[in-house]
Amino acid sequence: MSDDRLIVAMDVPNVLDGLELAKSLGDSVGFYKIGLGMLTGGGLALANELKQEHDKRIFLDMKFFDIGATVEAAVRGVAQFNFDFLTVHGDPHVVRAAREGAAGSDMKILAVTILTSLDRDDLDASCIKEGDVADLVQERAGLALSNGADGVIASPQEAALIRALPEADGKLIVTPGVRPAGAALGDQKRVMTPAQAITNGADHVVVGRPIWQAASPKAAAQSILAELASPQEKTPNL
Ligand code: C5P
Repeated sequence: MSDDRLIVAMDVPNVLDGLELAKSLGDSVGFYKIGLGMLTGGGLALANELKQEHDKRIFLDMKFFDIGATVEAAVRGVAQFNFDFLTVHGDPHVVRAAREGAAGSDMKILAVTILTSLDRDDLDASCIKEGDVADLVQERAGLALSNGADGVIASPQEAALIRALPEADGKLIVTPGVRPAGAALGDQKRVMTPAQAITNGADHVVVGRPIWQAASPKAAAQSILAELASPQEKTPNL
């Protein structure tokens, strides 16, 4: 059975490449994240095919944000396909509406706190209240969880802060921004290794480019899976 702590971000250019990637990873990977880039080009059909015909778990990274009624209707629409995880922004009214929309399904609602690409200057430019970004992340995570989110998306650095919250008891923490030691960072700035992310309290790690851009995606995935299986054997210094 696959170790579903690893979620592979399927950020490949199109649906055919997505199917090819899933085929090359085979049984070693059981969980895929499909994001907006793929979703606007047929990604929902891909998600359905991977779920129904290949028995994969699916994380739809849609990051919904709208008035409550619209979020609720959008989530209700997605929930009928039995996908596993769905992201929404962590604002309390959005999370509450998503919770309503997901009622009666097993789909988990994951909240985005503050996008990891944003720093304090970006928050100032958007008139977001003062304070340390890490404190705001922790505060928004607590709010999202107490308003009904099943978990949050967080950078590995934030995972420990969020895991320490009483509201996070029994909730999921899913971390992108993960790089095996020695892998190219791409545009990710604050990375940790898969083992460090799990040690910091993450339940799942999301890894994209280090796998799908590798000469052998399967070998890259297997090396990460081996690290997850024996975290103590890896040196924690990126
Ligand atoms: O290729 P890489 O491993 O950087 O991919 C990470 C995935 O996680 C991408 O799909 C990216 O959009 C997503 N993500 C992220 N940081 C966030 C939220 C989502 O990197 N804060």
